[in-house]
Amino acid sequence: MISLEILDLEISMFMESKTLNKRPVEDGLSRVDGRLKVTGAAKYSAEYNIKGVTYGVLVGSTVTKGTIKALDTKRAERAPGVLAVITYLNCPNIPGYHTDNQPAKGPLKIFIDDKIYFNGQPIALVIADTFERALFASSLVKAEYNKEQHQTDLKSNLSNAVTPGKAKDYTRGQEDAYKSAPIKIEQEYVLPTEVHNPMELHAIIARWDADDKITVWDKTQGVKSTQRSIAQAFKVPIENVQVTAPFVGGAFGAALRTWPHEIAAVAAAKVVKRPVKLVLSRADMFTSVGYRPQTWQKIGLGATADGKLMGITHEASGQTSVYEDFTEGAVNISQLMYASPNVNTRYKLVSLNVNTPTPMRGPGEATGAWALESAMDELSYELNIDPIELRLRNHADNDPLSGKPYSSKFLKEAYQLGADKIGWSERNQKPGSVTKDGWLVGYGMGTGMFGAYRSNATVTARMMADGTLILQTAVTDIGPGTGTAMVSIASERMGIPANKIRFDMGDSSLPPSPTQGGSQITSTVGSAVYDACNELKDKFKQVNGGTDSTDYVQVLKQHNLSQLEVTTLSKGGSEMGNYAAYSWSVHFIQVHVNPATGVVRVNKAVSVADAGHIVSPKTAASQIKGGSIMGIGMALMEEAVIDHRYGRLVNNNFADYHVPIQADIPQVEALFVNKPDPHLNPMGAKGMGEIATIGVAAAVANAVYNATGKRIRELPITPDKLI
Ligand code: MOS
Repeated sequence: MISLEILDLEISMFMESKTLNKRPVEDGLSRVDGRLKVTGAAKYSAEYNIKGVTYGVLVGSTVTKGTIKALDTKRAERAPGVLAVITYLNCPNIPGYHTDNQPAKGPLKIFIDDKIYFNGQPIALVIADTFERALFASSLVKAEYNKEQHQTDLKSNLSNAVTPGKAKDYTRGQEDAYKSAPIKIEQEYVLPTEVHNPMELHAIIARWDADDKITVWDKTQGVKSTQRSIAQAFKVPIENVQVTAPFVGGAFGAALRTWPHEIAAVAAAKVVKRPVKLVLSRADMFTSVGYRPQTWQKIGLGATADGKLMGITHEASGQTSVYEDFTEGAVNISQLMYASPNVNTRYKLVSLNVNTPTPMRGPGEATGAWALESAMDELSYELNIDPIELRLRNHADNDPLSGKPYSSKFLKEAYQLGADKIGWSERNQKPGSVTKDGWLVGYGMGTGMFGAYRSNATVTARMMADGTLILQTAVTDIGPGTGTAMVSIASERMGIPANKIRFDMGDSSLPPSPTQGGSQITSTVGSAVYDACNELKDKFKQVNGGTDSTDYVQVLKQHNLSQLEVTTLSKGGSEMGNYAAYSWSVHFIQVHVNPATGVVRVNKAVSVADAGHIVSPKTAASQIKGGSIMGIGMALMEEAVIDHRYGRLVNNNFADYHVPIQADIPQVEALFVNKPDPHLNPMGAKGMGEIATIGVAAAVANAVYNATGKRIRELPITPDKLI
């Protein structure tokens, strides 16, 4: 067995001998929690050893619509080690499920009645003293159903699409103006269902500490929102719910909300009077924690002969469940991206016998950009204008939606940086005209944008006598490197090295931070760290009789203090009301396509972000690369397939649901304009989690067209579509 020390030593030798330490300082801090993660010392929610823990396994419905006619749980209950089999027949009352003014539609209420809305819907939770015994017993639960005719196919149900209450048709100028333009295109684009599939399975350990006190170790993007949801569901005081999630192994939106399985685990812990650990199986992950919804889109673009957009029409119909409306801004990007005088959009939902979708990286915009940026590419060929030139001719100098100036926009610089890096000048506008070693070569690009936000966060900053700065706030880090970015900001503010700073997070008892989502954490929590550090410096100055000093240890000693601490609430200023704030990205792709087999190889990928000032260059680059890889997967591989005869997923596993692996991905280059946004926050930083993916899928499809002359309008672009 290798001891941790040896592993540590090996890693530090690796770090010293390899590239990492040789990089220039401006490449930024390495992940502050990197060592904990690679050594396995970082604990994820399923990895806590909780005394007396029991294990839960879910049983899913094998029909897609109907009611449960009979449930046989007797054999499972008698199986070795089984403590309980919870179903709708015996589930304890979940008080939050029965409050007044419940909307007609809403989140799935687990084990509340006999109704089946989708295949895989939990019908039982088996609790046993070991995982294996729970798993075995779960196979003994038998159900009979009254089956009803289900609908799971978006395409054959498009005529049933309805405008959801939350969505409004949008018109600027004249409706469908593209139809009367001299040059026009009108095309349909289809995006299949994509599943987040983070590496870490969703997992929760739930424990009741008293009749009205709950502790959970839970995979979540927001410990405070999970605390709120569990308190509401079980009607306990919010401060009596403790949520712990210091590490999260990817989420992409799947852990933004509290799901039925989390509520079930807490309820089960009450039944068995012991802690319950519930880890979803990979198959459960496809039906329990949402997905990017399959969406049909139609784009109409009209332009003058010299490429000025005269009209954009964007329609989208996405799927949702029958019990809950999930809406996203799939068409919003067409209202915002280009300076067209006439724009109209329509967004609709089709209710199907599927589980409810949920935001997935770049929610709405990633879907919309796939269609819009494909359509812009089609228009560029129609006009015989370079795709970048077409975008420059329609560049919006002010926000077309509000008419407000941008807080910052350096999109033109981003086009230039990326074009230079990918070698855009090598591109031939004529499709199928370039070959290399028998492969067709093509270039494509796509633009992305996403709102740049800042909300409220509170940070405690505490300087200890030994010079350690401890920062504390409830935020989680689902992977982008939040701790590293926060330490970078604090290090710069306080003038102390990063290794003297500790960032505590992922704990609901810490000062409040928002949920990690919507690319807003560096802006929001970073501002709070920034403000807290300034306040702490002021406090030191006061203590020190008005003299500035970064020798905090000396000041504390001199005044006989063991520590000095501030807690700072940081809010965005009202001046943001005067600006439209967005992050921007441009993605460039070079593909090689095998004309015989239809195999697409991404040979080069360059993504450029205008995300303001980059506070943590190394993790930022990693974020952009990860987003590009996700977009390549979206373009070429990802698709959750339902056999509509049964309404059941056929590829709910990693063997059949394809995501990119190392061999699929070239060196991805991440570039930054790196100019501060002067208004959004004191760092000048804008978010980049979403723009990393938004626009990539279109860039790949556009490159495939440039290589082959084949326009693929239904993702993923699998070889069969190219031969
Ligand atoms: Mo995300 S979809 O901002 O977690």
